[in-house]
Amino acid sequence: MKIAVLPGDGIGPEVTREAVRVIEALGLPDIEMKEAPVGGAAYKAYGHPLPAETLEIARLSDGILFGAVGDPDCDSLERHLRPEQAILGLRKELTLFANLRPAKVFAGLEGHSALRPEVAGAIDMVIVRELNGDVYFGEKGFRTAANGDREGYDVMSYNESEVRRIAHVGFRTAMGRNKRLCSVDKANVLETSQLWRDVVIEVAKEYPEVTLEHMYVDNAAMQLVRAPGKFDVVLTGNLFGDILSDQASMCVGSIGLLASASLGERQTAHGTFGLYEPIHGSAPDIAGQGLANPLATILSAAMLLRHSLGLATAADRVEAAVAKTLADGVLGRDLGGTAGTTEIGDAVLARL
Ligand code: NAD
Ligand code: IPM
Ligand code: MN
Repeated sequence: MKIAVLPGDGIGPEVTREAVRVIEALGLPDIEMKEAPVGGAAYKAYGHPLPAETLEIARLSDGILFGAVGDPDCDSLERHLRPEQAILGLRKELTLFANLRPAKVFAGLEGHSALRPEVAGAIDMVIVRELNGDVYFGEKGFRTAANGDREGYDVMSYNESEVRRIAHVGFRTAMGRNKRLCSVDKANVLETSQLWRDVVIEVAKEYPEVTLEHMYVDNAAMQLVRAPGKFDVVLTGNLFGDILSDQASMCVGSIGLLASASLGERQTAHGTFGLYEPIHGSAPDIAGQGLANPLATILSAAMLLRHSLGLATAADRVEAAVAKTLADGVLGRDLGGTAGTTEIGDAVLARL
């Protein structure tokens, strides 16, 4: 079983290192990990954020462990050369259209949420975010407006097949949980969202056991801090899902805790091919200082073991070790503690 390891930029390599140590410590037979450059690091060495060799290593793997990309040095490059194009390119090229971002409060961490403990304690949701469409991938550019002003534009669109396939993922996820799906859109203003809502309603007919609710994104942002425990599965588009999941992370306690799986339809020998990454970025403000919380990446590795390699028991072990680490009070600076990146990794290893 092949894992492609793509550490990337900033804290990416720091947090990925800890996740690789955890996978190694499991002593699983037949696992081969192969590292490849992405992001600003790849641009600086090879002139492209997603070199063809890296894409090939990713394509030939059963699952990809991804750190983070983004480098302030690259912020003025032409867009197609910027580090972020690596993750966007992988998601698109490999048709990884379904992004699962679970958000659940860990026992003992209720008091570390940005919300009151009794509000935070009820959080147990999965955000199902579409990843291959929306305003991210529409026509974009700069032009001159009628009055001579400079103008930027990004076209937002979804076609019905794109909505249908992610809606099925949302409903199936709900069927495996508490059978409640909240579809988040902005149908009161956007035609893209009206189509989204119409298609979700059509797909819902195939899942009569699931209770479907629709919510405008502005209200969803509010409800997420008012009563996050009311959400089970949140189904939404690329942009809204990006924003709401960062917000959900602070309801749980830290952006350093939220993992993700990006899946498509391709099957591996033991599961579904996918890319696994923390929801956070390269955090240039703390990079190179050993301060990053590696738990989101370690939890992403657990998702890889479960979804792409069919190793549910190993995934359970990793998740239990992470939960124990937090319950024992081994906290990074992001959670008000003092433990550094390696120290947190060591704590997880000791509890495996
Ligand atoms: P960010 O997620 O990198 O950081 C936001 C804040 O959270 C920072 O203060 C950072 O120090 C903190 N933080 C993030 N991860 C942490 C961790 N594991 N432990 C402790 N603290 C953590 O978002 P940003 O600052 O908006 O973006 C920085 C760069 O990362 C940008 O170039 C952006 O495009 C990129 N980015 C990449 C990805 C990805 O690779 N998938 C995701 C988000 C942002
Ligand atoms: C994420 C990131 C990416 C996104 C960026 C880096 C392209 O914010 O993975 O959440 O917007 O999808
Ligand atoms: Mn994001």
